[in-house]
Amino acid sequence: MKVTIVGAGNVGATCADVISYRGIAGEVVLLDIKEGFAEGKAMDISQCATTTGFNTKVSGSTNDYSKTAGSDVVVITSGIPRKPGMTREELIGINAGIVKSVADNVLQHSPEAIIVVVSNPMDTMTYLTLKATGLPKNRIIGMGGALDSSRFKYYLSKALNKPANDIQGMVIGGHGDTTMIPLTRLASYNGVPVSEFLSQEALDKVAADTMVGGATLTGLLGTSAWYAPGASVAYLVDSILNDQKKMIPCSVLLEGEYGQQDICLGVPCIIGKKGLEQIVDIHLNDNEKALFAKSADAVRNMNADLKSVLV
Ligand code: NAI
Ligand code: 2OP
Repeated sequence: MKVTIVGAGNVGATCADVISYRGIAGEVVLLDIKEGFAEGKAMDISQCATTTGFNTKVSGSTNDYSKTAGSDVVVITSGIPRKPGMTREELIGINAGIVKSVADNVLQHSPEAIIVVVSNPMDTMTYLTLKATGLPKNRIIGMGGALDSSRFKYYLSKALNKPANDIQGMVIGGHGDTTMIPLTRLASYNGVPVSEFLSQEALDKVAADTMVGGATLTGLLGTSAWYAPGASVAYLVDSILNDQKKMIPCSVLLEGEYGQQDICLGVPCIIGKKGLEQIVDIHLNDNEKALFAKSADAVRNMNADLKSVLV
């Protein structure tokens, strides 16, 4: 199976690295506009093969899309990352133009590919990709909820002082500081509700820390994070390529689910070889429903800025 990753920067290269050493795909192509950059990242990753023991073929390309031909999955990470003090929303103007032209280029060479959108503001870029390409909704998946959920489980594990892998939990809604919804009510420690161990105050703090999880790292690193984002994309790609049918919160087109229409927003999805195979429409309580509607309003407002790009 072949995966193309457009954008060989921090997130794209980390994703290629994880896909390779975990043997998720037989071939990975990194593509970037910076001359020699993707080739360099691919060579560096390839030189891990004998020490970490993988067989994935990793190559790089400077903007030559013919090298990406026949990809099963294409990941779009190209764009500029958020800088300290910059909101994801401010990225929209720059990244919309990049994402649209990248989607057009990749489909010329991989007309059957499933596209995973990572570039921010991710929910809006996913919607843009869907509208601009006209592809069926199962083939356009935005990655954000997998990352936000991993941060949620990280903060829960810190509060509980228990291993993160013993924690289950999901974040739905938009991939934004004010739009994501950590589902604390449904989170568990090995099946036991976390509310058995943590006070409401502690749970509220976990949710608040999760929501600013990306901004916290941006403040510390001077640019946005890449290890967990890259690994989260690889996790999603694994479920597609290997038909794992994992339930992963992803940004996908809603057509009535969760009371929303004509918007891409994070909801629990079954992800397999067809891409989005099912939206899991779970029951939300009144407060969660209100938060979801508010999140949709904010993302819809941002989508309105796409008008000039979508003509
Ligand atoms: P980066 O700056 O390290 O890498 C971006 C790469 O895209 C650069 O190498 C750049 O040369 C390349 N690029 C720009 N225009 C291009 C084009 N037209 N064609 C091909 N390549 C092009 O940025 P980083 O940290 O990798 O972040 C990438 C994007 O992912 C950003 O928009 C960031 O906000 C977003 N992101 C999203 C996350 C999510 O959960 N959805 C998590 C982390 C980052
Ligand atoms: C993150 O959540 C900025 O979307 C990026 O780390």
